[in-house]
Amino acid sequence: MQRRAFLLALAAAAVVPPAFAQGKPMKIGVIGSGRIGSTIGGLWVKAGHEVMFSDRDAEQVKRAIDGLGPRARAGSVPEAAAFGDAILIAVPYAALPAIQQQVGAQLKGKVVIDPNNPVPSRDGDMAVSAREKGAGVSSAALLPGARIVRSFNAWGYATMAREANRPAPRMALPVAADDAAALKLGMQLVSDAGFDPVDAGSLAASKAFDLGSAVSGRVLTAAELRQALSLKP
Ligand SMILES: NC(=O)c1ccc[n+]([C@@H]2O[C@H](COP(=O)([O-])OP(=O)(O)OC[C@H]3O[C@@H](n4cnc5c(N)ncnc54)[C@H](OP(=O)(O)O)[C@@H]3O)[C@@H](O)[C@H]2O)c1
Repeated sequence: MQRRAFLLALAAAAVVPPAFAQGKPMKIGVIGSGRIGSTIGGLWVKAGHEVMFSDRDAEQVKRAIDGLGPRARAGSVPEAAAFGDAILIAVPYAALPAIQQQVGAQLKGKVVIDPNNPVPSRDGDMAVSAREKGAGVSSAALLPGARIVRSFNAWGYATMAREANRPAPRMALPVAADDAAALKLGMQLVSDAGFDPVDAGSLAASKAFDLGSAVSGRVLTAAELRQALSLKP
């Protein structure tokens, strides 16, 4: 077994949330319930997970949970951060420091799914340096102690809604993390949302699928995505 695969397997055995380890539905907190938060959170509700949606705009939360049934609930941002075994943060990139200030202490040690793209025209100068570093590495620096899983960033929300749970072959999304257990959980959550997860390596490696990269916006099977990212088949 390759060294990275061995280390990933070893660490994954150590810190997986108990519900996930037993194949049971998980509790997921969503911070930012706009287009991406409501789309991905809704796919997880449909997969059987319990999801608490939050936003600084209460109307967004009402719209997000509308029609999703009892597994979807509304909460404040701190309540969602406390509720989730895993947390999806889906806010404009420039809002990440505010999230860190508000609930950073609660996010320490939790798996945080990060689809957030730094966009200079929207997020200002901080997005320029985030793009240079790579969004995954930058998010990890903005949310210290959170176990960042980079995924769901490479397509628009409408494409995700349309392509989820397609008959075989399902379409693939890349997943990257520096923490083996977080990677495993992220891969599961991508699968539960209705896509084939592709292990794309570390957060540093996730720059290869940042917004504007060669794979950004491309709807591919797992084999095609691996080839496009020059990963082993
Ligand atoms: N849209 C896409 O297709 C797409 C695709 C891939 C990745 N992404 C990335 O995903 C992230 C979210 O995009 P989106 O399109 O879903 O944005 P969106 O529709 O504007 O939703 C973002 C939500 O986050 C809320 N928010 C902002 N600051 C917050 C804070 N401090 N605490 C709690 N909630 C806060 C916003 O509330 P207010 O309305 O009050 O500001 C808004 O409801 C972005 O980083 C984007 O680059 C988007």
